Amino acid sequence: MVRLVWYGHACWSIEGDKATILIDPFITGNPEAPTTADKVKADYIIVTHGHGDHIGDTVDIAKRTGATVISNYEITSYCQAKGVQNVHPLHLGGGFNFPFGRVKLTIAHHGSGLPDGSYGGSAAGVILELGGKRLYHAGDTALFLDMQLIGRGGLDAAMIPIGDNFTMGPDDALEAVKLLQPKIVFPMHYGAFDVIKQDPQTWKTRVEAETQTKVVILRPGEGYALD
Ligand code: NI
Ligand code: MN
Repeated sequence: MVRLVWYGHACWSIEGDKATILIDPFITGNPEAPTTADKVKADYIIVTHGHGDHIGDTVDIAKRTGATVISNYEITSYCQAKGVQNVHPLHLGGGFNFPFGRVKLTIAHHGSGLPDGSYGGSAAGVILELGGKRLYHAGDTALFLDMQLIGRGGLDAAMIPIGDNFTMGPDDALEAVKLLQPKIVFPMHYGAFDVIKQDPQTWKTRVEAETQTKVVILRPGEGYALD
């Protein structure tokens, strides 16, 4: 079984039979975070890009738990320089079979500068295959037509930003669902800051009227099991 827990913004805990994978652990400083960085579990931490609301608490959590940080080469090198022991660099279009499943980085149209101003490579999205499920976490991105290719392999679930301003807003996120055609979509990256406030219920109504995809709106701290 695969269980997803939303920690608010773009942060998810993906709990499989063999590992807990944390994505974009922005917990400290996130007004909606339901937990604290010293409590979360992680065997692996996937970081989509270098912005502070994504790399977040990665270094502290990796040092405490010994989790392996999976990200682009520039970000794993940054984490190593900060004292993280275990890293696995990937880059766009590349995937690797980890003991728990497969992680592949996809394109994302966005920046990736790191909090101290150093170069964070290219922003990415993630395709995660584990426990017989195929998931897509879009990271921060504009809408792009290649989402069709990501959806072509079949998606059990997608996590996509709807916040507007820094990423896709509700209109483009609806188009993204049409391209990705996931069974379930979880809206994310709305609500943590004033400029990205959106009403996910309105978006759910639109998406479910125009597509076959089920929209699941979680509150920070809530989980959802993919059966
Ligand atoms: Ni960003
Ligand atoms: Mn962001």
